[in-house]
Amino acid sequence: MKTEPQIIRTRNFVADAAAFILEQARKAIAGRNEFRIALSGGNTPAPVYARLAAQAADLPWDRVCFTFGDERCVPQDDPESNFRMARENLFTPAAVPGKSIMRMRGEIDPQVAAHDYQQQLAAIAIQSGEPMYRHDLILLGLGPDGHTASLFPGTAALEEMTRTVVANFVPKLNSWRLTFTFPLINHARNILFLVGAAKSPELIESVLKGDSQFPAARVNPVAGEVTWMIGE
Ligand code: 6PG
Repeated sequence: MKTEPQIIRTRNFVADAAAFILEQARKAIAGRNEFRIALSGGNTPAPVYARLAAQAADLPWDRVCFTFGDERCVPQDDPESNFRMARENLFTPAAVPGKSIMRMRGEIDPQVAAHDYQQQLAAIAIQSGEPMYRHDLILLGLGPDGHTASLFPGTAALEEMTRTVVANFVPKLNSWRLTFTFPLINHARNILFLVGAAKSPELIESVLKGDSQFPAARVNPVAGEVTWMIGE
């Protein structure tokens, strides 16, 4: 059964998104002494990460575990790298310790990088007696074709129901991506879609109505909450 998402439409997108994430962090750390958050890439999150870095100076970063919902298959210093965007806007300004960051290795063979990342998550899950790594919060974006993470329409990763992280070839980009799959995304406690004001209202409505031609519409955590933070 699809849990109804919370929809927040705001003119203070960056401030409200940062506040939402901080609240989730404090709740998770208070409850379980750790905060597992997956960062999304692209452009929209950059100012939100910068605001986080500016506001969360008192957050115990060593209790936070940063993962990435997806990554381009490029070196970490490439302008396309989601890791680079997060490092510049959040990790460096907030002095996040390296041990709190699980980087997807975009510079190596995509299949190896995806498998390694999946195994890293599985090892943590096994250590804490979980059947699968459970994020406290996964940040997701919305592409103009309704993709989210690197789950693009018509690509193989959409059908993956066993593995949690895969390499996904995206014909329209003629490139490989590393991405979480729906099983991992839908195992999260909380999902936050970050959707800037420029995004198509028609696309947002179709996704919210559950139009499954758009991969974002297939995000439906079995026991979690979905929030849409939509800029106006
Ligand atoms: C990526 C992202 C991707 C992104 C959407 C929206 O690696 O590009 O993870 O899923 O969130 O493409 O991107 P914008 O926020 O830049 O519009």
